[in-house]
Order: sequence, then structure tokens, then C-alpha cells
Amino acid sequence: MGLINVVPLPIFSLYLVLLLSTFHVKSAILLQRSTYIVHMDKSSMPKVFTSPEKWYSSIIDSLKSGNHTPSLIYTYDNALQGFSASLSTNEVEALRKFPGFVSAYNVKKSATIDTTHTPECLSLNPFADLWPTSSYGKDIIIGVLDSGLWPESLSFEDYGMSTSAAAGVLDGPYSKWKGSCEGGQEFNVSMCNAKLIGIRFFNNGVKASTSKQVMDSARDTLGHGTYVSSIAAGNYVSGVSYFGYADGTAKCVAPHARLAMYKVIWEEGIDPSDVLAGLNQAIRDGVDVISISMGFNYESLDHDPIAIASFAAMEKGIVVATSAGNAGPGFGTLHNGIPWVITVSSGTVDRWFAGSLTLGNGLSITGWSLFAGITFPKNLTLVYNKTLAACNSSQLLSEAPFGIILCDMGDIHNQTNAIIDSKVPGAIFIYPIPSLVHMKENSCPCVVIRPADALMVINYVESNTSPFVCLKFKETFFGTKPAPVVAATASRGPSRSCPRILKPDIMAPGSLVLGAWVPKKEVARMRSTYRLYSDYNIETGTSAACPHVAGVAALLKGAHPNWSAAAIRSAIMTTANTTDNTRKPIRDLGKGSQLASPLAMGAGHIDPNQALDPGLIYDITPQDYVNLLCFMKFNQSQILSITGSRIYDCWNPSPNLNYPSFIAFYSDSITVTTKKFLRIASNVGKDYATYKAVVIAPEHTVVTVSPETLVFRKQNENQSYTMTIQYKGNENGTVLFGTLDWVEENGKYRVKSPIVISPLLSS
Ligand SMILES: *[C@@H]1O[C@H](CO)[C@@H](O)[C@H](O)[C@H]1NC(C)=O
Ligand SMILES: *[C@@H]1O[C@H](CO)[C@@H](O)[C@H](O)[C@H]1NC(C)=O
Ligand SMILES: *[C@@H]1O[C@H](CO)[C@@H](O)[C@H](O)[C@H]1NC(C)=O
Ligand SMILES: *[C@@H]1O[C@H](CO)[C@@H](O)[C@H](O)[C@H]1NC(C)=O
Ligand SMILES: *[C@@H]1O[C@H](CO)[C@@H](O)[C@H](O)[C@H]1NC(C)=O
Ligand SMILES: *[C@@H]1O[C@H](CO)[C@@H](O)[C@H](O)[C@H]1NC(C)=O
Ligand SMILES: *[C@@H]1O[C@H](CO)[C@@H](O)[C@H](O)[C@H]1NC(C)=O
Ligand SMILES: *[C@@H]1O[C@H](CO)[C@@H](O)[C@H](O)[C@H]1NC(C)=O
Ligand SMILES: *[C@@H]1O[C@H](CO)[C@@H](O)[C@H](O)[C@H]1NC(C)=O
Ligand SMILES: *[C@@H]1O[C@H](CO)[C@@H](O)[C@H](O)[C@H]1NC(C)=O
Repeated sequence: MGLINVVPLPIFSLYLVLLLSTFHVKSAILLQRSTYIVHMDKSSMPKVFTSPEKWYSSIIDSLKSGNHTPSLIYTYDNALQGFSASLSTNEVEALRKFPGFVSAYNVKKSATIDTTHTPECLSLNPFADLWPTSSYGKDIIIGVLDSGLWPESLSFEDYGMSTSAAAGVLDGPYSKWKGSCEGGQEFNVSMCNAKLIGIRFFNNGVKASTSKQVMDSARDTLGHGTYVSSIAAGNYVSGVSYFGYADGTAKCVAPHARLAMYKVIWEEGIDPSDVLAGLNQAIRDGVDVISISMGFNYESLDHDPIAIASFAAMEKGIVVATSAGNAGPGFGTLHNGIPWVITVSSGTVDRWFAGSLTLGNGLSITGWSLFAGITFPKNLTLVYNKTLAACNSSQLLSEAPFGIILCDMGDIHNQTNAIIDSKVPGAIFIYPIPSLVHMKENSCPCVVIRPADALMVINYVESNTSPFVCLKFKETFFGTKPAPVVAATASRGPSRSCPRILKPDIMAPGSLVLGAWVPKKEVARMRSTYRLYSDYNIETGTSAACPHVAGVAALLKGAHPNWSAAAIRSAIMTTANTTDNTRKPIRDLGKGSQLASPLAMGAGHIDPNQALDPGLIYDITPQDYVNLLCFMKFNQSQILSITGSRIYDCWNPSPNLNYPSFIAFYSDSITVTTKKFLRIASNVGKDYATYKAVVIAPEHTVVTVSPETLVFRKQNENQSYTMTIQYKGNENGTVLFGTLDWVEENGKYRVKSPIVISPLLSS
């Protein structure tokens, strides 16, 4: 027993003995196990082992006692160095004494997938700029970490793509591809093609923590994975729609990119060990871009599976795009606020799904609807009766005269349910911003109109003895103004895991986006009971926004194969658009349509064609990120958990990560504060370029930039500058923001960075 407290020597035979002896103290009641992620330092591996897998297995084997066997779930060699295992707390304590042990923790199952309930809007043009320059993403591989895929969807056909690339055995230009197509339940290897070049599933973790039968296949049963994959890399498909809405050609951001799916989201849940296994495989397989439309809420960087795995991805030049979450509009709600990934917020698109009504007097009003059922245009009695107009009792509604009911402004969700449960053939709802009403899940033969339009309807009803109306559905209009606006539900910065870096980074279309779907998974219900199915679905959330950015990153990677992940992110951020289609600054639906702050939209709305040629970039090396971690007082084992390697050091702790945005904090008690930032800009435009600083200082601040002019003589030359913000104020919870733009003297480039002065995050 006394041996437990002895620090074991790094001699294999000795610590094996030590561990065996620890079993004498173990009591059977402590054998309740859960899944732990264990980080190991590979450089401490005893020479007797030929591979880390053998080393880890031997460690696990040495923890065995009688019938009680801890089990290894995965070993990891890319996303991190270590393994996951089902362990008791005593076994974890025993593990800590092994040489090479770095850290072990039990990640809470706090992951959320980020849909709450299009390239036209990204203005990609087949004849100019990013699409032709990158050959539509040809030869770029996008790895999607999600719920699997419905391979029969037309979006994943390989039409127009080189077919020499047979499933799993890609050669020639694809020799970098080491992935494969894994068959399984309802999934044949032959379902891969030149578009879907790889698919794998990872369910050991979820199996270890459930007694339910888990599917053994990468086939999607939830729809989410099929949906996000089709947005990032779906091929052209014409004539698709959601029951007639958003009718047209589904063509996604990088239509000729290759796709690899790593299924880690299961009906039974999301297990961190599976997520790490999927990312480990994606990195090993050689993907160029990874899209992750989920996140672990409020984990610290050294315990967040996505932060850990994406560090390894970043080292290899893989761009990782992640969703910010849908927990908005509260301050500090985002996940994936990780310095080495792209964190994506969500905005609306200028598209409107309409239902219209024509009154008996000929007056026509266009409203909003996503009613999915079949109706035939028919004139029906229009009923507006104060007793009924609350539309909150299906029983009362069923007794009403047969006709279309006009409801007063109320809780539309409850009104929808009441209408659906009644015998009423249709209704008209009133809401200030109809496009915000998402009645999709419970499809209701209803049209939402504005209060001003409702007045006309009421006037008509009240001045006619037998008013009637005709409702029409399934119309789609473009040009809604203003657009884009930040979606109310998009999670907001600052990042809790790394407040020093302004997050989110960028906004992309995320409201009511059309994407491929699983035909066996219902998309909506009619009258609560009839389930509706469709090959294409309209969804909302940062889950939909993230794959747009992954697709754009793939196109940029195609155009600039040697750019680092930070360079690609910099190009996307410094060229983002901060104005809407009314030529005014982008607004925020979550904040009463006030101007959107960078904590809601990052640098602005993604503008892919501008990102192709940004003029300047802010590049970052892996050691630069480590310097930030050192400055943040992460200790050696925490840093080793993230980096998995001893090649990095803490000689130069620094808060100055070369990021294309700026954030400083004020506290209520301090009224004057000064913060200085150092940045290095690299010229990726032509030789000889001169840039001048143009600052819009946040309120109550003085911003100085030195020098104010950057002169580049050569391509790839670096120039550094400092920016100092002096804040004098006593704000109370207000977020202040401004911009620093470097403007090229001939007006060819404008390299934009947002500046935020934020209140401190409360815990
Ligand atoms: C898989 O292939 C086998 C043999 O060709 C076939 O019988 C089966 O129907 C296929 N499964 C699916 C889901 O297509
Ligand atoms: C509804 O009534 C109007 C006015 O009487 C008429 O012009 C229209 O054709 C009718 N619509 C239908 C679908 O019957
Ligand atoms: C329905 O709304 C009316 C008017 O607002 C209210 O008086 C009544 O209590 C509500 N009924 C229910 C069941 O909520
Ligand atoms: C309003 O609806 C109620 C319930 O159906 C009915 O009893 C009442 O007569 C209606 N009033 C008018 C003016 O139509
Ligand atoms: C809507 O319905 C829910 C559940 O029945 C109820 O709690 C809520 O108060 C209703 N909202 C309104 C505004 O009537
Ligand atoms: C990209 O990098 C490769 C390998 O580092 C190098 O051979 C190649 O010349 C580079 N290409 C460009 C355009 O810089
Ligand atoms: C920014 O986007 C809006 C809306 O899509 C567009 O009208 C405007 O021209 C864009 N601005 C720039 C500089 O491209
Ligand atoms: C410019 O800076 C980047 C990142 O800071 C660095 O990787 C690169 O080597 C530098 N280039 C030159 C020419 O010094
Ligand atoms: C590093 O910090 C973690 C978390 O605070 C702590 O558990 C661990 O013991 C520390 N490790 C070292 C080597 O200081
Ligand atoms: C700031 O807001 C808090 C809470 O709303 C309030 O208690 C406090 O007095 C305010 N302070 C100032 C300086 O306005």
C-alpha cells in the first residue's frame, strides 16, 4: 500500500509492478467508470514499445484486476497524443503516476449542434473571381464532422468532376488523400464516388456510455450532416426546393470540392472521445478544410476536444471552420472561441418565403409563410371577431364560422398550435417583423403580415357584411431589405475560453438556408400529426453559416495553396463587408435592430471574391499561439495537452497574437485605461505598395497608429505597426466599437480590422 505514493521511475518493469500493487487498495465500489481523455507525452515512451498504441494498451492492461477491466476506447496520434478509455476515478489516479502522463479529464457531454429549427447571396460568379480562379474548389478536400451523410442525395453526385478518382483509391493529384470509404449498416462502399471520397464513423465512445443499440454506419439519420455537407461542397442540382419554396438550382459554395464525412454525432448523443477520433482521422487522411457545426459549451481550451484537435489541424495548414452557436443574443454566449479556428456567426439572407392574401376588394398583401401543404386558391369567408382573435383556444376556433381567421398580435407559437389543432382552414397572423417568424416545424396554413398591412385588412372586414379572402402560398422573393442582418439567435462574443481574441470572426448566411436532407427524417408536421418529408430542407442557425465559410476557405485554398490557415482566415476577415443592401451599416436583430457590433458579426459578412485578393494578410505561426497561451498562464501540462509536442517553448509569452481584429476591456471602476497592440502585416499583393491607416475610433477613445504609413517594396515583405487605444469613460455595459483600415494609396485594397471596447465578462 505504501507504494502508491512513490513516484514511479521511468522503468517499465518497475511501474508495472507499482500499478499491480495499487489494486490491493482498490475497493470494488469505486469501479463505476466513465470516459476519460488521457494526454500522454510521446517522448517519454519506454523504448520497449514499438508504437504508442502498444504503450497505451499495456498501460490499460496493467490496470486490470480480476474481472474488472478498464477498456481502451480510442488511441489518438494526430488530433492529440494519447487515448480515451473507460476508467474509474481510482484508475485515473493510478494513471497519473505513469511517466509520460500529461493530463486526464472527463469532458462533460455539453456539445450542441447548431441549427435551431446560399451562394446567390455570396455573389459567386461563374465567369469571374473566386469560382473560376479556384476551379470551383477542384482538388480541395473538405472534411465534415457531423451526423453522417445520405449518399443518395443528388447534391453528392460527382457530375462534372474527374472520375479517375475512384472511391478510396485516389491517385495522381489526390495522392495526398489517405482516407477511405467505410461500409456499414445500410451503407455500401460503392456509395462513395468522385465527390464523396471518404466516409467513416466513430461510435466507440457513445457505445461505451449507453445501453442502447447504436447504428454501425455513417448513414445519416438526423439530417444535420447531410445538410451542412451539401452547403459546403454540394454539387449543382437543379429544380430542388422545400415544398416549392426557395425553388431553383441548389449549388453550393465549393461545388467541385471533394467531400469526406466523419460521423461523430449520433441519435444517442455526442461523445467527446468520438469527436476526437473523427478529427484525428480527418487530419491523418489529409483533408484541407474541416467544417464543424457544433461546439462544446464553455470548456477551457485545454479540455475542449475541438480546440485540442484543431491545434494539430492548424499546424498542418488545415483550415477549421466552426459555428459560434445559437445561444444569442446574450453577451459572452459563444462556443468555439478558439484562437486557431474560424468562428462563424449567422446572418439573414435577402430572401423572403411568402404567402399572400387577396381581399374581396382586390387589395393584395404579401406576407410571410413556410406552409408546406397543398392548398387550392379559393375565396373563403374572412372572420375577424374579437372573442376569437386571441387565437389561443382551438376549441373556440373550431366553433367559429368556417373561414380564414384574422388573429390579433399575440404569441404566434401558441396561435399556430391553436390553429393547427382546430378545424380552421387558415389564418392571418400579425407580427412587426414577419420574416422573424419561423413556423416551419408545425406547418400552418397561415400568412404573417405587418401591423400596418393588418390595419387595411381590419378596415376591409369592418366595412363589409360578407368579407372574403384568398390565401396563396409558396412564393419566394429576393431583395428583402435590409439584408443581411445578424440573426437574433447567433451566439455573441467575447469568447470565454480566450477573451483576448475578438470572436466571432465572420458572419455568413445562416437563416432559412436550403440544403440537402435525409428523406426519412421529417422536416415538418401538418396539424401536429401528418409528418412531412423532403429531400431538401430549410434550416436556420450558425450550423448553416459555418459550412459556407468552410466552402469559401476551400476555394481560397485552391487559389492560394501555400497560405496558412491564419492567412486564409485573415483574407476572409479583412475583406468582409460591413454594409447591408441599403448601404447602411449591418444591423442586429437580437438588439432591437441597433447597429451590429463585432461581438455579434465579427469582421462583417463574408465576401468571397474580395477575399481572393486581400492585399495584406496577418499571418500566425503555431509558436505564436503558444506564446499567447504562455501569456495566459497556461502551465506546461495544459500546453502539452493542446500541442501534443515539446517543440514549442514559453520563452516569449505574448498577448500580441497577430490577429486581424482588436479587443480591449474596460471595467466599471477604471475610467482611464490604455492598451497597446503590435501587428505585422505581410504584403500578398504586388511589389511596391503603400498603405495609410484610416481609423474610426470607438466612442470615448483615442486611437493612435504608428507608423501611419506602411511602405512595401516587395511581395511577401512584412511591416509592423502598433495601435494604442486610450479609453476615457464610464460606460456601463455598453459595447463600443470602431475600425482600423489600411487603405492602399491607389484605392486598390482596403484591409479592414474591427476594434471592440467591451465590458468585462462576468463569470
Ligand atoms: C449493398 O450492396 C449489396 C450487394 O450488392 C446489395 O444487396 C444491397 O442492397 C446494397 N445496400 C444498399 C443499402 O444499397
Ligand atoms: C375571388 O373573388 C374575386 C373577386 O370576386 C375574383 O376576382 C377571384 O377570381 C376569386 N378567386 C378565386 C380563386 O375564386
Ligand atoms: C386568451 O386570450 C384572451 C385575451 O387576451 C384572454 O382573456 C384569455 O384568458 C386567453 N385564454 C387562454 C386559454 O389563454
Ligand atoms: C364571435 O365568435 C363567437 C364564437 O364563435 C360567436 O359566439 C359570436 O357570435 C361571434 N361574434 C360575431 C360578431 O360574429
Ligand atoms: C403560450 O403557451 C404556453 C404553454 O401553454 C403558456 O405558458 C404561455 O403563457 C402562452 N403564452 C401566451 C402569451 O399566452
Ligand atoms: C508552395 O510551397 C511549396 C512547398 O513548400 C513550394 O515548392 C512552392 O514553390 C510554393 N509555391 C508557391 C506559389 O509559393
Ligand atoms: C456589401 O453588401 C451589400 C449587400 O449585399 C452590397 O449592396 C454592397 O455593395 C457590398 N459592399 C461592397 C463594398 O461590396
Ligand atoms: C513575415 O511574417 C510571418 C509571420 O509573422 C513570417 O512567417 C514570415 O516568415 C515573415 N516573412 C518575412 C519575409 O520575413
Ligand atoms: C496545470 O494546471 C492544471 C489546472 O489548473 C492543474 O490541474 C495541474 O496540476 C497543473 N500542472 C502543473 C504541472 O502545474
Ligand atoms: C451601472 O448599471 C448598474 C446596473 O444596471 C447600476 O446599478 C449602476 O448604478 C450603473 N452605474 C453607472 C455608473 O451608471
